[in-house]
Amino acid sequence: MKARTGLVQLLPAFVAVLISGCGGPTSGRGFTLPEGDVDRGKTAFLNLKCYSCHRVSGEELPAPDETTRKAVLLGGTTPRIQTYGELVTSIINPSHKLAQGFVSEPATDQQAAEGEPQPKSPMVNNNDVMTVSQLIDLVKFLQSHYELEPYDPTLYQPY
Ligand code: HEC
Repeated sequence: MKARTGLVQLLPAFVAVLISGCGGPTSGRGFTLPEGDVDRGKTAFLNLKCYSCHRVSGEELPAPDETTRKAVLLGGTTPRIQTYGELVTSIINPSHKLAQGFVSEPATDQQAAEGEPQPKSPMVNNNDVMTVSQLIDLVKFLQSHYELEPYDPTLYQPY
């Protein structure tokens, strides 16, 4: 009985999350990408030098940049697969969500020259050089390297 009361109390919070996620001019609703290509995505990853800061699980890539303090791993097992909306956002708007440990990175020379406001990601902004096709293929390439981690469901005792 107690568990049920808890759920009822949580209901308004659930509804609020659903509503805020559905509407508004900045919501991701209606966003779809055409089908990308994994091999072309890898080529784009190399051409845009993403490997200078990233390792990709299960891929042989050129050595990361010497000046990179800590390469960020992309792909691998995850409890929740990254949607392409999340990947596109990470690529074209890297500062939307800053990984722990990277927030206080000083601006790169390129970012300083562009006068980007703080706080921001140390990730290079490729928006003026990357084609839309490259972006679509990059997302396909990265998604092919995420694997859903099996998890043990919580077993509830019968009443
Ligand atoms: C100068 C270093 C640098 C370069 C170059 C770079 N990134 Fe990143 N990237 C980062 C850092 C640091 C993060 C961690 C999140 C943050 O703080 O921005 C990140 C985060 C990401 C994420 C989100 C990862 C997650 O688990 O949330 C994706 C996806 C990504 N980068 C893709 C790319 C792609 C594709 C390229 C090439 C077009 C690229 N990055 C180039 C530094 C870089």
